Amino acid sequence: MENILEVEDLGIMIDGEKIVKDISFFVHDQHITCIVGESGSGKSITMSAVLGLLPKVACKTKESKIMFHGDSMFCIYQDPMNSLNSSVKVGKQLYQMAKGYKKMTRTEFDQQMGIILERIKFEDPMRTLNKYPFELSGGMLQRLMIACAILVTPSLIIADEPTTALDVSIQKEIMREFRAINREYQTAILVVTHDFGVVAELADDVIVMHDGEIVEKGRVLDLFDSPQEEYTKRLLKASFEGAENCS
Ligand SMILES: Nc1ncnc2c1ncn2[C@@H]1O[C@H](COP(=O)(O)OP(=O)(O)OP(=O)(O)O)[C@@H](O)[C@H]1O
Ligand SMILES: [Mg+2]
Repeated sequence: MENILEVEDLGIMIDGEKIVKDISFFVHDQHITCIVGESGSGKSITMSAVLGLLPKVACKTKESKIMFHGDSMFCIYQDPMNSLNSSVKVGKQLYQMAKGYKKMTRTEFDQQMGIILERIKFEDPMRTLNKYPFELSGGMLQRLMIACAILVTPSLIIADEPTTALDVSIQKEIMREFRAINREYQTAILVVTHDFGVVAELADDVIVMHDGEIVEKGRVLDLFDSPQEEYTKRLLKASFEGAENCS
C-alpha cells in the first residue's frame, strides 16, 4: 500500500514555543484518514503546514519533512464563510479555484458543476452559483466546496472539521459525499475532526493528537476495539457517553 503523504518530525514553533512537537504520520493513498483530537491540540496548524500555508507567526523546525507523492491537494476549510470573499459570487470564486487544477472555460465549469450540484441535491445549481457567499448557509457553502473537489478530482482532499458547524442531517449528507468521492475516484481524504462519530462513520485510519503530539495511530477498527493509550480511551468514553445522553 502506498502513502500519498508522509510527514516526518514535523515541529511548528509559535513565539518560541513548540506547538507541534516533532510528529510523524502518513496517509495511505486511496484511504480516508481522520486526525482526531480536542480543541487546541494542533490539528489545523498541522494541516496548514502540509498545505504550505502556515500563518506568519508560525515556522517549521528545520528537521521537519513533508513529502507529498500525489499530483494535487484540495482543501475544504473549517469555516467556508470566512475562507471565501464575500463580495464575489460563489460561482466565480469556485471557477477561479477549479481553473488552478484543470484547464476549462467558465461554460465548461458551469456545465460540469451543474451536473455535480444536481447530484448532491441542489435544486437550482445555476442560481446558487450566482449568489454571494453571505446569501448561502454554511452547509450549502460546504457542499459547494465538496462539489468543487469532485470536479477537480485531486489526489488528496484535506477537510478541516467539515461538518462541525452543520446540523445533523447535513452532516450525514456531507459524510456520504466524502465516502462517494473516495469510492468512485479512489481519492485519498484527510479529515480533521474532534468528533469520534465522524471517525466511526468515515475513517479507515485514525491519528489521535493531543497537545501537539500524536498519542496513537492505526486502523480504525483496532483503535475502537482496543485503544492502547489512556487519552484515547478517555476521548472514546466521553464521545460514547455523549451519544448515549443524546439518544
Ligand atoms: N495564527 C496563530 N497565531 C497564534 N497561535 C496560533 C495560531 N494558530 C494556532 N495557534 C495556536 O496553536 C495551537 C493549536 O491550534 P490549532 O488551531 O492547530 O488547534 P486545533 O486542534 O485545530 O483546534 P480546534 O479543534 O479548536 O480547531 C493553539 O494553542 C493555538 O492557540
Ligand atoms: Mg482546528
